[in-house]
Amino acid sequence: MKILAISGSARRASTNTALLKTMQELASEGMTLTVFDQIGSLPIFSPDLEEKNTPTIILALIAQVDQADGVIISSPEYVRAIPGGVKNLIDWMVSRAEIIGKPIALVHASHRGEDMLTSMRLVLSTISNRFLDQHFLRLPLVGKSPEEVAALVMQPEFKSQVYAFLQGLSDEIARCQ
Ligand SMILES: Cc1cc2nc3c(=O)[nH]c(=O)nc-3n(C[C@H](O)[C@H](O)[C@H](O)COP(=O)(O)O)c2cc1C
Repeated sequence: MKILAISGSARRASTNTALLKTMQELASEGMTLTVFDQIGSLPIFSPDLEEKNTPTIILALIAQVDQADGVIISSPEYVRAIPGGVKNLIDWMVSRAEIIGKPIALVHASHRGEDMLTSMRLVLSTISNRFLDQHFLRLPLVGKSPEEVAALVMQPEFKSQVYAFLQGLSDEIARCQ
């Protein structure tokens, strides 16, 4: 089972990226988790750049989405909303067939951010008819370094939450395939 894990932060020392990279190590045999942490490199979406004008980097991302059995998005909240970079990525996906039936789940590396999460749930359930709202992993990692995130997530309490999330996601995807 292939999972594409998209980090919504362009920050080098991002807690969301670090969480996804640690989850990559915890993925069970039979599941590969590929982390996309290049959100800052994507061009700004414009309908003028769709179809034959689609930039190569976007085509590569869409191919990754297409090949994945499921997508995870882990994003910070910026100014009580979805960060512009993440919304930009989502805008690129909107008119694409690849995203429509794709199972998508949310991960969140913060104990705050309810406004972003509410908005993200609305947006993701609009672009995919398989947004898995019931599969949600949230760990309080704000302000931690990537090394601290890795160490914390490997602690039994957090590790068991990651395992439970990945197992639930895997079961749900398998059930619908
Ligand atoms: C421009 C900016 C705006 C932010 N706005 C909020 C906010 O509205 N609510 C919140 O809980 N945190 C806010 N934060 C804090 C980030 O969401 C938080 O530090 C998060 O853990 C960063 O994720 P990252 O480590 O993956 O980059 C903001 C941070 C920045 C840089």
